[in-house]
Amino acid sequence: MTRDPAVRRLDDWGAPELRDLANEYGTPLYVLDLDRVARNFERVQAAFPNAAVHYAAKANAGRAVLSRLATEGAGVECASAGEVERALEAGFAGEDVLYTAVNPPAADLDTVVALARDRPELTITAGARDTVDRLAERGYDGRLCLRVHPGTGAGHGESVATGGDASFGVPAADVPALLEDASDRGFDVVGVHAHTGSGLSNEDRESHLAVVETLASVAERTTVDLEFVDVGGGFGVPYRPEEPPLDLDPIAEATREALAHLDVDLVVEPGRYLVADAGVLLTTVNTVKPAGEQGTFAGVDAGMTTLLRPALYDAFHHVRSLEPDTADREETAVTVVGPVCESTDVLAEGRRAPEPDRGDRLAIGNAGAYGIEMANQYTSRPRPAVVALEHGEDRIVRRRETTEDITAMEEP
Ligand code: LLP
Repeated sequence: MTRDPAVRRLDDWGAPELRDLANEYGTPLYVLDLDRVARNFERVQAAFPNAAVHYAAKANAGRAVLSRLATEGAGVECASAGEVERALEAGFAGEDVLYTAVNPPAADLDTVVALARDRPELTITAGARDTVDRLAERGYDGRLCLRVHPGTGAGHGESVATGGDASFGVPAADVPALLEDASDRGFDVVGVHAHTGSGLSNEDRESHLAVVETLASVAERTTVDLEFVDVGGGFGVPYRPEEPPLDLDPIAEATREALAHLDVDLVVEPGRYLVADAGVLLTTVNTVKPAGEQGTFAGVDAGMTTLLRPALYDAFHHVRSLEPDTADREETAVTVVGPVCESTDVLAEGRRAPEPDRGDRLAIGNAGAYGIEMANQYTSRPRPAVVALEHGEDRIVRRRETTEDITAMEEP
């Protein structure tokens, strides 16, 4: 079977088409290709043919993304009651929903337990004995999965190497007893879960495998008859133009092998992998400032409120000019900065690029994951619009916010 390319680079997007979108809808603007999201889902399914693929909604919980993936036959992994509500509203059925309760606020448990009353097929993953007790207090005795703290993690940075962080999950050694205890208390104990970390590269394969093996050994040691082992998400995408794509097949193969002796279904929860390269962020240069040895600063209308990842994780996003005449311009070191008066408001630092001009449109790559989802209104900046591309058409799926949206919740 021929598969779609393993990665869609920023240069694969057509500049004239993106310029047209920027002209029509204004900037900053997120563009999300839903057909690419569907292809990415198919690629994960092809690599993990017998696994249930649950999209981690936190990467991008827009209704358009959720409903397209529901239509494609994906499941969904939700990190909050809000995500569960949005997933159900977008067309996922109860049986498609895994709710991972991470130190859940009471209101989240109240809401999800109430939703599960009408949808007993929904699964709740608890990451602490406390959470199991709090579910029992609410009369929940439905499908329960336990999150294992595997003790090892990996990912694009310390801040996302979840598996190594004891705040997530029950220590592996304690899990078998807790599974049995929960089963004795009447819960329908169905699975174990762990998440290695986010942004896994080919080099992180061993760490991921160590986590899968920890899950396998937990599943071996329990007397509870488990339905599935959920190995989490975290499959990375290349953010740098020269970076190779993640080779999913060997990861899938090793995962299958590690679980082969167990009679359990495999669950994976990719977020970024499905949406990152399906999205770009379009922005317009408003200020050009030559800065001597530091090159040129290009002030743009997107910033850390629009795309938080560079400020928060020092994340690299490829940036490209969409202007047709850049070949005629001199190359320089360009630093792309936003409109917020903070030194962290830098989207790209010192990139070799053609001298920018006021009015230039730029595209920022891999913006489909953790882009609009982490956007915020700091400095009273309305969040951008999102345009979806689907079946050859474009349409607004989230309108641009206004100042009135920002103040709408305030009382006089
Ligand atoms: N499952 C669980 C339990 C998770 O905590 C996460 C992500 C995922 C699945 C999906 O991971 P993914 O496949 O998207 O890597 N905001 C950060 C990423 C944080 C991810 C946290 N957990 C970023 O922008 O890089």
